Amino acid sequence: MNTQKLSQQLAQIIEQHHLLKHPFYQAWMRGDLTVGDLQDYALQYWPHVAAFPQFVALIYGQAPSEAAASGLLRNLQEEVGSATQSSHPELWKDFAEGLGVARDEFDRTEFRTASKDLKSQFTKSCLASFAKGLGTLYAYESQVPAIADQKVAGLEKFYDLKDEKTLSFFKVHSTADQFHSAEVAGWIDQLSDGEAAEAKAACEDSAKALWKFLDDVYAGTAASKMNSGMNSTCAAPAEMILN
Ligand SMILES: [Fe+2]
Repeated sequence: MNTQKLSQQLAQIIEQHHLLKHPFYQAWMRGDLTVGDLQDYALQYWPHVAAFPQFVALIYGQAPSEAAASGLLRNLQEEVGSATQSSHPELWKDFAEGLGVARDEFDRTEFRTASKDLKSQFTKSCLASFAKGLGTLYAYESQVPAIADQKVAGLEKFYDLKDEKTLSFFKVHSTADQFHSAEVAGWIDQLSDGEAAEAKAACEDSAKALWKFLDDVYAGTAASKMNSGMNSTCAAPAEMILN
């Protein structure tokens, strides 16, 4: 019998697919991505970012307790923006704009299969049940603080992007998702044995979907072609493109 808390079991599943181990984020942390690579990532991630408030709303709608409902409602209110703050999707557009992506570019972008698949996986899980929704939310939010910190460090160091507006999406999530994921872990640990299997399956499927999305974005980068030996063309250093 597994004596670990369910949230700890989920954390182990997530660790196996942790996005900081992905070559795309590793290239980001080394400054090996071009600004064009980052722009493509910002655009292709949009369906997921834009739908995130809906994912939270779907789980909120199935919350079995008042405590879970009020916690998820607070999360949702942050996603859509309080009276004093922009919504998180708008903060994402601020990040993209800092990279040189026009805000209306999102409306003209053709989203690739991996981008649409990621949104579909999250939607499916969050619709299916409260347990699956929590497994999915945990797969994402428990990883975000560490990733956000690394992204900010990489953007400042290698891409000379230091202004608050450009970095705000990551800075907000660096702290907010520490709190949210701790809260989600508490609800996960109250799930029944039957629900535990659902939460684990959704957690793994969602962690894998996030990884596959990065596979697709990484495949288009010069850094990936250099690593695979398919192409000897070097990416122009980011600072050359920015200046
Ligand atoms: Fe968010």
